[in-house]
Amino acid sequence: MGYNVAIDGPAGAGKSTIAKLVAKEKGYIYVDTGAMYRGLAVHFLKKGLSGDDKKAVIDACDDAKVTIGYENGIQQIYLNGENITEQLRTEKVGNMASKTSVIPEVRAKLLELQRSLAREKDVIMDGRDIGTNILPDADVKIYLTASVETRAKRRYEELSAKGEHITLEKIMTDIKERDHRDMTREVAPLKQAEDAILVDSSNMTIDEVVRTICDHCR
Ligand code: C5P
Repeated sequence: MGYNVAIDGPAGAGKSTIAKLVAKEKGYIYVDTGAMYRGLAVHFLKKGLSGDDKKAVIDACDDAKVTIGYENGIQQIYLNGENITEQLRTEKVGNMASKTSVIPEVRAKLLELQRSLAREKDVIMDGRDIGTNILPDADVKIYLTASVETRAKRRYEELSAKGEHITLEKIMTDIKERDHRDMTREVAPLKQAEDAILVDSSNMTIDEVVRTICDHCR
């Protein structure tokens, strides 16, 4: 078993930014599970499916294989052998991932991949259900959150920097919808594990958050 750090929290809390920095400092492998859900979402979009068509999405899972690899220490997502990492971080893919991640069959498809990575390696794994469901025995559990306003602003800056045109209001609405879906779904909803450390990053610098988390790790 590797040394396992679980980091969960809502969209835009800064999980991936923070987890990457902690991974670098501590020598862990960073595993981004949201990217796996986004990888499946690309598959569903390629097939022209609606995220609300549950049956079609479940059927489409049969011919999707998501695997991961690392290039210069950066996680890559492969869909049926094709590297689709560059296609993952758009609002369209994010919304499809959010809608389809409520479907138990979609979650089941990624569960073993996530657990096997944690068995083999020292990892910091980010997601929504890592501390509660995927790695209940993780050595350290962090629940990283921030106010809706802070998270929307961060996502706005991230997307604008990439040239995606979207208003702050639309992002705010999307984030609230995603929070609601993540927190109210029946299987593995987003919630703070009982033994997780709560970190609210609304008024913290990136460095302060990294320090706080590193201090809890071995
Ligand atoms: O974190 P990210 O925004 O990349 O995740 C995309 C979507 O995948 C989220 O909106 C969330 O609904 C879903 N997800 C999940 N469980 C995880 C990671 C992500 O349901 N462990």
